[in-house]
Amino acid sequence: MSHLPADLTDVLRSARCVAVLTGAGISAESGVPTFRDAQTGLWAKYDPTELATPEAFARDPRLVWEWYAWRRELCAAAKPNAGHLALVELEKLFDDFTLTTQNVDGLHLLAGSRRVLELHGSIRRYKCFDTGRPLEGEPPPCDDPPPRHPDTGGMLRPDVVWFGEALPEAALMESIRAAREADVYFTIGTSALVYPAASLPIEAQRAGATVVEINPTETPFSKIATFSLRGKAGEVLPAILQALDQ
Ligand code: APR
Repeated sequence: MSHLPADLTDVLRSARCVAVLTGAGISAESGVPTFRDAQTGLWAKYDPTELATPEAFARDPRLVWEWYAWRRELCAAAKPNAGHLALVELEKLFDDFTLTTQNVDGLHLLAGSRRVLELHGSIRRYKCFDTGRPLEGEPPPCDDPPPRHPDTGGMLRPDVVWFGEALPEAALMESIRAAREADVYFTIGTSALVYPAASLPIEAQRAGATVVEINPTETPFSKIATFSLRGKAGEVLPAILQALDQ
């Protein structure tokens, strides 16, 4: 990333409503492996799309539980990076700021972002497989996983959206509202392949937002973006903050 377009700084200075969509790329610099390239070691022989489903859990709850326990450890070792931290600061500059993420690693909340919509849930939370009731805190110790929800007695599962499941309605509605009202819409570190998240920048662009893409490589969003900033989120976002500070 050589320099920021001056027009972008001007647009941001006059913006009131800013919305952001993030994907796996924002966490790349924290060392969180993407869903697909996380399949190493013991897990290499499994296809993630055949583990991340309610049917897979019903068939072999222990296997799916243990896969998530392993992925959770990978996430737990990761720390928010300069990109996550710059988004925390960016939020403070606007009256209306909404951050929608497709990531389940919880790093935006850990960094300190306040208005975060976790569209695909969080690997750091659990709920009852039968009733959907959330679990407060950590699962009880258990010799024969998955552990049970202390109130419902149902098996605990990660509070993530599995293939074939609906997205959390309120988070999706709020993400759409933010996209439609945004003066500036950032799409950061996402390959724009998974719907409905991928439709958010398009909604924003149709409603008149300036769309800013931050990604080292081209994506389907590049065509609709007003600005395509080719670089790493951990470098471009701090540069934007710095430019706004001048
Ligand atoms: N900064 C910004 N972008 C980056 C960086 C970086 N440091 N490193 C990689 N990228 C970009 C890649 O170029 C790619 O376009 O991040 C994008 C990651 O794309 P995907 O791996 O497809 O991730 P994502 O778009 O989040 O996937 C969406 O698909 O796997 C499912 O449910 C899962 O939420 C996930 C969804």
